[in-house]
Amino acid sequence: MLETRTTPDFVTLAREHISPVLGLKAERAFVRGEGHRLFDVQGHAYLDFVCGIACTILGHRHPVVTDAIHRQVDTLAHINGAGFAEPTARLAAALADALPDPLDTVFFSNAGTEVIEAAIKLARRVTGRPGIVAFRGGFHGRTMGSVALTSSNPNYRAGYEPMLPSVYHAPFPDAYRMGGEEEASRQALAALRDLLTNEIPGRSVAALVLEAEQGEGGYRPASASFLRGVREICDEYGILWVADEIQCGFGRTGKMWGFEHGDVVPDVVCVAKGIANGLPLSALVTRRELQERWGVGAHGTTFGGNPISCAAGVAVLDTIQRDGLVANAAARGAELRAGLERLQREDAGIGDVRGYGLMIGVEFVTDRDSKAPDEPRTSRVLAKAAELGLLLLGCGTDHNVIRWIPPLNVTSDEITEALGIFEQALRG
Ligand SMILES: Cc1ncc(COP(=O)(O)O)c(C=O)c1O
Repeated sequence: MLETRTTPDFVTLAREHISPVLGLKAERAFVRGEGHRLFDVQGHAYLDFVCGIACTILGHRHPVVTDAIHRQVDTLAHINGAGFAEPTARLAAALADALPDPLDTVFFSNAGTEVIEAAIKLARRVTGRPGIVAFRGGFHGRTMGSVALTSSNPNYRAGYEPMLPSVYHAPFPDAYRMGGEEEASRQALAALRDLLTNEIPGRSVAALVLEAEQGEGGYRPASASFLRGVREICDEYGILWVADEIQCGFGRTGKMWGFEHGDVVPDVVCVAKGIANGLPLSALVTRRELQERWGVGAHGTTFGGNPISCAAGVAVLDTIQRDGLVANAAARGAELRAGLERLQREDAGIGDVRGYGLMIGVEFVTDRDSKAPDEPRTSRVLAKAAELGLLLLGCGTDHNVIRWIPPLNVTSDEITEALGIFEQALRG
């Protein structure tokens, strides 16, 4: 009975009624977003380089997206069972256009984890094989299928055994800790081959699930040679390559898709997060024949492909293309990276600066020789940056990486501003 009780402020309501499992921080209560700024309850403004974990890729209240949402809300908010709506079909076609051939057929869902679940089901049903291969440090979601693939943090898995069976993890090529890009790629491909020979026969594996740049696991990019090697191995054994583009897709890496850094085409592509600039939507895309073989009724959804989210999605793709935002991500990413590398030269605690485009990780270590992770300093820098008005997010299996995920339409001035704040935050 909301109207009869005295109304406490929403921070109190959140503290009392939103699940503690989320670990929400009381000081992170926002009332408004405008462009690349967020405003908290006290009226402080923050430069938002978190983007709701890589979702608001065009910033807050982007006029084209907001207008598309308003128009669709006033037209048709939900339809399922009885048929489908125009924005759903238009976005499916636009995604097919934005992906390389032969990826042309879309199954919509609501969240990233749902399309990973869908990919597991499709791969098992279509190949008739049980095995799924994922990579150490990967993050693919938290539902019971996807969490079995996720290994970026033991807390995400603890207490949930038994996990989905026949899931195997291969080492990810970590250039910083495995002797450079090419050596890391060589070792990781050799380990993958070994797994497919000695742990599960390659011919029993339905799918291999890979992020072209690991997100939650520490903003670690896979090199071109690794991506090409993975394609070759999948072809050799008839394994479906599922590209998890949920965080690294949609222009984030300075190319439209992360896998393009290897000049290869996967069999299944999972997208979510930035697809509708913050509205819940995800998509699994494959060549048509795979989903025909999946079969009518093999999978389904109530809300997936919601017309409002899809209308936003069409506006997002249009804007990315019209405003040249993939090129902007590459150019601004290069500026950001150069600035961070300059700071690295002056700060022995920054062990590594890495990543494609606007998906850059800064790894903190106690010293550069041992490369021992420095989680306490990472937390201090994040807190100080927020205090100074810049929102950044941590990641990494050892919680010692700061990830930079600015909006794709970030400006040079904003990059300069953020670097200035970060430099101050580094000083403590
Ligand atoms: C690479 C990747 N895959 C899957 C997911 C799961 O997406 P969601 O949280 O929307 O279920 C995430 C979320 O962070 C992600 O970064």
